[in-house]
Amino acid sequence: MIPSIGQFHTRLRLADAFLEYDAKYRVTKRRFVKPSFNDIRHVFNLAQVNELAADTSDLRLITLDGDCTLYSDGKNFEDEKLARFIGLLLCHGVHVALVTAAGYGYDSPKYETRIGSLLASFSMLPDAAKRRFFVLGGECNYLLQCNTACRLEPIPEKNWTGLDCHGWSPEQVQLLLDTSEATLTAAIDELQLRTRLIRKARAIGMIVGGKEAKLKYPDGSGSKNIRRELLDECVLRVHAALKDAGVTIPFCAFNGGSDVWVDVGNKKVGVEGLQKYLGLRPEQTMHVGDQFTNTGNDFAARSVATTTWILHPTETRYILKTLLTKLGVNVKVAANDDRSSKRARPEIAQ
Ligand code: IMP
Ligand code: MG
Repeated sequence: MIPSIGQFHTRLRLADAFLEYDAKYRVTKRRFVKPSFNDIRHVFNLAQVNELAADTSDLRLITLDGDCTLYSDGKNFEDEKLARFIGLLLCHGVHVALVTAAGYGYDSPKYETRIGSLLASFSMLPDAAKRRFFVLGGECNYLLQCNTACRLEPIPEKNWTGLDCHGWSPEQVQLLLDTSEATLTAAIDELQLRTRLIRKARAIGMIVGGKEAKLKYPDGSGSKNIRRELLDECVLRVHAALKDAGVTIPFCAFNGGSDVWVDVGNKKVGVEGLQKYLGLRPEQTMHVGDQFTNTGNDFAARSVATTTWILHPTETRYILKTLLTKLGVNVKVAANDDRSSKRARPEIAQ
């Protein structure tokens, strides 16, 4: 009935999840408000978490999007409880990776600035737990691992993928970026967007243009914020142009909420690469993100991982708390506290 629904990597007991959700939120007792998109999203999330916490499952990797999932859009990480829950997962033998579109090459301090308080919260964890935390920047392009001093250490591409730039030809990368740049430049002109472009080695972005762009297009919009419809229009123009240009390598052109980015590669490549590196399968992985529409950048991860769709970092915290509780982990204590786990899990070889 829904051809675009995609593949499910685990069983989802939706009826059970609905009954559990209904017992708490009383959907069936509502008289005026019918079940909403959000109700359905929460029921699917709950069914997924229940399945991953079941004795028959073996959850080993949680990939977390950055903006809107771990921290507010464009801001830095600041949620102490969320940091504790991530620490508990790491101690529980689960690998955790921030998989973000934000790409700062291998400039570790830039990523460390965004998640400084999260890294600092790992200081009391055992070394093996610290080393289970990764950052994958630029969707799939730059992998870094937390070391025992809670700093991020680059892992050269050849060491985890066995290839340079995932084996994509420099000509295809050039074609992808040049076509995207030309399409965005034409869109800026036609839509009178007071925006500007940023080109990086493996990405091109369109962001608000400020005063300077206002002078160029006195009748346009986008100097301080860009309307969602205009962001979507730019993304869909890029999708069409890349198809026409014969780009065959994976890419991600997406609406970031306040900007548009086109990245070389996508989160499918990123999450799949991490799975290969760690020797894991899709049903052992959960990706948490906020952008699962066709112009969002978490969408690509669906084909290689189970997913939960959140709207805000507080929902990420709730999902991780629910998951930990169902895994038998005491969420009230610090991650390095011996009382944290009621259910022993085997340690993973590094
Ligand atoms: P995510 O939600 O963590 O995947 O981050 C997406 C946001 O990262 C985008 O909306 C941009 O604001 C920001 N960003 C910074 N650098 C890049 C880049 O090179 N590519 C894509 N997004 C970037
Ligand atoms: Mg996001």
